[in-house]
Amino acid sequence: MATVTTLLDAISGIGRDPVRGGYSRPVFSAAETDLRAWFTAEARARGLGVETDRNGILWAWWGEPHKGALVTGSHLDSVPGGGAFDGPLGVAAALAAVDVLNERGVQPNRSLAITVFPEEEGSRFGVACLGSRLLTGTIDPDRARALRDADGTSFADAARAAGLDPEHLGRDDESLARIGDFVELHVEQGRGLGEDGPAVAVGSSILGHGRWKLTVHGQGNHAGTTLMEDRADPMVAAAQIITAVQQAAAAQPGARATVGRIQAVPGGTNVIASRVQLWLDVRHEDDAVTAQLVEAIHGKAQKTAAFEGCTVALSQESFSPTTSFDLALQRQLQLALPQAPVLATGAGHDAGILAGHVPAGMVFVRNPTGISHSPEEYVEDADADYSAQALADVLEALL
Ligand code: GLV
Ligand code: MN
Ligand code: MN
Repeated sequence: MATVTTLLDAISGIGRDPVRGGYSRPVFSAAETDLRAWFTAEARARGLGVETDRNGILWAWWGEPHKGALVTGSHLDSVPGGGAFDGPLGVAAALAAVDVLNERGVQPNRSLAITVFPEEEGSRFGVACLGSRLLTGTIDPDRARALRDADGTSFADAARAAGLDPEHLGRDDESLARIGDFVELHVEQGRGLGEDGPAVAVGSSILGHGRWKLTVHGQGNHAGTTLMEDRADPMVAAAQIITAVQQAAAAQPGARATVGRIQAVPGGTNVIASRVQLWLDVRHEDDAVTAQLVEAIHGKAQKTAAFEGCTVALSQESFSPTTSFDLALQRQLQLALPQAPVLATGAGHDAGILAGHVPAGMVFVRNPTGISHSPEEYVEDADADYSAQALADVLEALL
């Protein structure tokens, strides 16, 4: 019987990032492809039948593929320089939970599937939870096909290279109908579970969140020959916009706003940029407040850009409203895990996208550093191994 730690150990060398530290496992990269192959082999070794649906979601079936199945799983892609647990913990726990259920001699009354969703982080193509958005029809497949990564490769081409037919991307009612209940186990990404208490929590809700791109246009020019008063430098505007983002969010209770990515074009030390792109992530429990915050940031960015002789354009890349998990399913998870507190999360998940369509719920596993999307994300071995027992308790109750 494999433990979660031995499963995670087996993939600990895949996708390490020697520059950023931690792991960089973008969707359909060599690293993520290797992880999908690892998952497929582990699932087959347990006698599970593995298939890939037309949106690139892996399904490993215990029993025959069936409508209304109990489905658990997570993702194997990562943010750039991410931790070892965000995604893989839920996948490894699902595999190990099947072993636990087998050892307990559980005879399921319904089919069980483990799913692996592609591009949960949106690290490569910009839209988070792209696989579950495609499955549920929450993104127009034409828009998905046209998304481009930093090298200009379209999602359509990347999907084709990964063996999918890009023409067949999009809402998949047959696959969706197979999900009777969805439970995602995931590393906790804040300080919600203390050292002395229970190691797992039941999820209640996901904070509404969205991504926007701000493009500041200026005049590309020579760093040596252009006098300071003659410049329209979008980097100078961008610096002030970033500060304005921080100030706007700090003034709004409960809000979080981040510029975690910036790109100067063309990006030369002795070149005044002609264009700067900033990616903005804004979150608040009240979606109207999120919209107001983004509007306020946009207004401030326009003024700042104009003062610097630049212009700015804003476009939305994705939005997920604040989502509460299915209460009946949440209660069942609480009954199966009576010690577990109930926690809301500020992080997005495929379970949140699915929650708009099928009963979905989450189980969070203690992270003593409280850090995530960073190499310092951490789960103690004992908690990782216990997570398979906890997930097995949940699955057994629901099977
Ligand atoms: C996903 O991890 C997100 O919250 O952005
Ligand atoms: Mn995740
Ligand atoms: Mn993440």
